[in-house]
Amino acid sequence: MLTFPNNFLWGSAASAPQTEGHSLLNGKSLTTWDKWFELNPEKFNEKQGPKDTSNVYEFYADDIKRMKEIGMNSYRTSISWARLLPDGKTLNKEAVAFYRDYFEKLNESGVKPIINLFHFDMPWWLMEKGGWEASESVTAFAFYAKTAFEEFGDLVEEWTTFNEPLVHIECGYLYGFHYPAIVDFKKAIQVGYHTLMAHVLSVKAFKEIKAKGRIGIILNVTPTYARSDSNEDQQAKKAADLLVIKSFLDPCVLGTIPNELIELLKEHDLIPVTKTGDKENIEMYPVDFIGINYYQPMRVKAPENPVKPAVTTTDLFASYDWPDKRINPYRGWEIYPEALYDVAMMMKNEYHNIPWFVSENGMGVAEEERFMDESGMIQDDYRIDFMKEHLTQLHRGIDEGSNCFGYHTWTFVDCWSWLNGYRNRYGFYRVDLENNFERTLKKSGIWFKELSQNNGF
Ligand code: BG6
Repeated sequence: MLTFPNNFLWGSAASAPQTEGHSLLNGKSLTTWDKWFELNPEKFNEKQGPKDTSNVYEFYADDIKRMKEIGMNSYRTSISWARLLPDGKTLNKEAVAFYRDYFEKLNESGVKPIINLFHFDMPWWLMEKGGWEASESVTAFAFYAKTAFEEFGDLVEEWTTFNEPLVHIECGYLYGFHYPAIVDFKKAIQVGYHTLMAHVLSVKAFKEIKAKGRIGIILNVTPTYARSDSNEDQQAKKAADLLVIKSFLDPCVLGTIPNELIELLKEHDLIPVTKTGDKENIEMYPVDFIGINYYQPMRVKAPENPVKPAVTTTDLFASYDWPDKRINPYRGWEIYPEALYDVAMMMKNEYHNIPWFVSENGMGVAEEERFMDESGMIQDDYRIDFMKEHLTQLHRGIDEGSNCFGYHTWTFVDCWSWLNGYRNRYGFYRVDLENNFERTLKKSGIWFKELSQNNGF
């Protein structure tokens, strides 16, 4: 039996744009997702757009009962910026009422809300002004964050600013997966810097108004693994570490941007525009805790035919296809639970053992109806095995002193996933798209309840 620390958080994560639905209703303004779907629906799996998603806007009260049914004691979701402040300034009263009732009901049910502020959902009014490229985005976000702390601070004690900031940077400005889908390294770094400062100024606002509770950020960091010990591969690993791990973890936890990262950016003419006082604010406003989303490791090797200055990340490190890898064929992601132990040790040894939790971990599987039994329940043993393997590695890390306080899966009910629509399913509950988003419990939900009740397995 592997037992976890007292008061360990067992729960799931989701986000406003992926679950709420009512995306064009109730006073919400458009996000880049709503607009992109309007412009290019063919880009989305089976033309499944962000309009209705899993209709949590209507079903939240029953969903919270379902959370209880599977032993969840915590839940992370986000507020939609475009719903709360449709024009960036004016409060949408209906949104306030919706979120207040949602968070109140979570608290009443003993499901601790962890509330995030940005999950890839840039309001369209701001995107038209340049989105994260524009310095206005920093102050606009800090205003939104302060508004959220003021409106919901009596109901929420655990806040996070961003989910996976690297994703909107990489997917929007380097790899073409998110709007505006452009490839421009310099812009990507500027977008990253503005995101970092939006985070820092939100932490500052949180501390200045003396909001109760704690504030953190959710990062998709994982130790990187180099193909070999050769100097070239190790150099590639170093660049990857700086860009995808230390770029946010260091300023957010240690209050500094690593010198080596600044040197690397200088070398490639990528230094962003900064403002007086930024450095001091980064130093003064570290986070109280970190959330780490972990799905797959990052394997790197020396770049092939790199150009200088670098045009994109592959001029600094290339991705290495490890021949011994195990793969989740539906998502194409490597399964490597050992990395969770390495993350735990990294947080302990390099980030002064700051409190942290696994804020997402999960397995997306397509066409899950293949695994439905006669009673209609999906027998997702693969998901149970996936969780067991990852929890075993996490437990090793905790045993060796890492300060981890929870484990959240992605996700609670199957949800909409950006360009992938509803292709890959991750939930403890199946969502029936043909039948008004009806929820049905999967076998993994029953296992999760035992896990939470026993505080281990
Ligand atoms: C995380 C994101 O990176 O992975 C979620 O925070 C996302 O928004 C999840 O849905 C699973 O990835 P995907 O692309 O299969 O939905």
